[in-house]
Amino acid sequence: MIKIVTIIGARPQIIKAAALSRAIKNHFSDKIKEVIVHTGQHYDENMSQVFFDELGIPAPDYNLGVGSGSHGVQTAKMIEGIEEILLKENPDYLVVYGDTNSTLAGAMAASKIHIPIAHIEAGLRSFNKAMPEEINRICCDHCSTLLFSPTATGYNNLIKEGFTPKNKKPFTIDNPGIYHCGDVMYDNSLYFSKTTRQEDNETTSIVPKSNYILCTIHRNNNTDEPKRLNSVVKALLRLSEEEDIIIPLHPRTKKLLSINLETETYRSLIDNKRIYILEPVSFLGMIMLEKKASLVITDSGGVQKESYFFKKPCIIIRSETEWREIVEVGAAIIADADEEKIIDGYYHFKEKKDIEYPEIFGDGKAAEFICNELISNKKSKIIHKF
Ligand code: UD1
Ligand code: UDP
Repeated sequence: MIKIVTIIGARPQIIKAAALSRAIKNHFSDKIKEVIVHTGQHYDENMSQVFFDELGIPAPDYNLGVGSGSHGVQTAKMIEGIEEILLKENPDYLVVYGDTNSTLAGAMAASKIHIPIAHIEAGLRSFNKAMPEEINRICCDHCSTLLFSPTATGYNNLIKEGFTPKNKKPFTIDNPGIYHCGDVMYDNSLYFSKTTRQEDNETTSIVPKSNYILCTIHRNNNTDEPKRLNSVVKALLRLSEEEDIIIPLHPRTKKLLSINLETETYRSLIDNKRIYILEPVSFLGMIMLEKKASLVITDSGGVQKESYFFKKPCIIIRSETEWREIVEVGAAIIADADEEKIIDGYYHFKEKKDIEYPEIFGDGKAAEFICNELISNKKSKIIHKF
């Protein structure tokens, strides 16, 4: 039996964790014991608890209750709390997901006390170090022992940074193992899309049933820079003359709309009868909205991919993406926060009906692969005394 400590904190990590927890419960319950640590980075009911209730994720064994704060304050509190838990639990692996401050804190705490790190979603790069997430990913990858990349691009990024597929087991922080293993979110989307039914979903009862644009906005440069936020919202206002638009709004964006939008743009948005602004929805609600949308406009990493999983074209309101493949195959367009590019993207996809969606995110069994590798790379433990 191996013991892993899994760190979750932000919404997408809680959802991702469902795939590994499900694989452990169904196939590895006699081989892996999972201890879940919630940092408390996200804490609103609809940003956290809803996913535990809905996706069958075990309740966290620990909740650090860190909450919101500046990068330094938030990350420091997490490191302190995670270190204490790791010293007590002394796991075989720390498992972290993605690129948030919770990911970075887990990696910093574990690496200094010699607990090997398994990073799920390794190798993704935007090549834009102004993004806090880019710093988090690079630091985490470079102190990980097992690096699980969902895509070929991610895997190749690791090789360009000096990681090598030639390393042999047993893997260590100085002899790390890299894998191209598919995406746990593809596992989840396949699994949960089978369980959702339109009539079960509260969200979909209050919005149009089809032929709408689904939009999410939360990336810090889009919410915090008034010019960018105004430009995106002006594009949405113009598109609302063509189609209904549904926006499940991240709390960060909700707080900043009235502050960073020009008064007239703000009023036009709030009064617009074809734009449905919702509280954040559950994951099953989100899958339902994605499946019925005609187009997705987003700056979310997860939503970009899910639009691809459900074969919907996507306009990415960022200047670059870590999910390059979906742009390369023509299923997504990078429009940045540029009003005209967003409008052009809309008309491009309205005309284009022959988009291909080749399988680039694995076979829906990434979590099982990861579990097998965690088990087969078990090492004798160091006992930490501080
Ligand atoms: C974080 C991640 C980002 C990820 C996103 C997923 C970092 C640096 N950023 O961004 O990579 O894409 O989560 O959603 O880790 N808030 C609430 N209630 C909550 C959570 C947040 O009101 O439950 C508000 C607070 O005002 C907070 C703000 O949202 O200050 C930002 O939250 P934070 O977790 O710091 O960053 P996100 O923008 O959510
Ligand atoms: N999501 C959700 N409800 C919402 C918006 C998003 O369940 O109202 C899900 C979405 O389906 C995806 C994940 O949250 O699985 C993406 O998280 P987010 O956009 O917050 O962060 P990112 O992926 O950009 O880090």
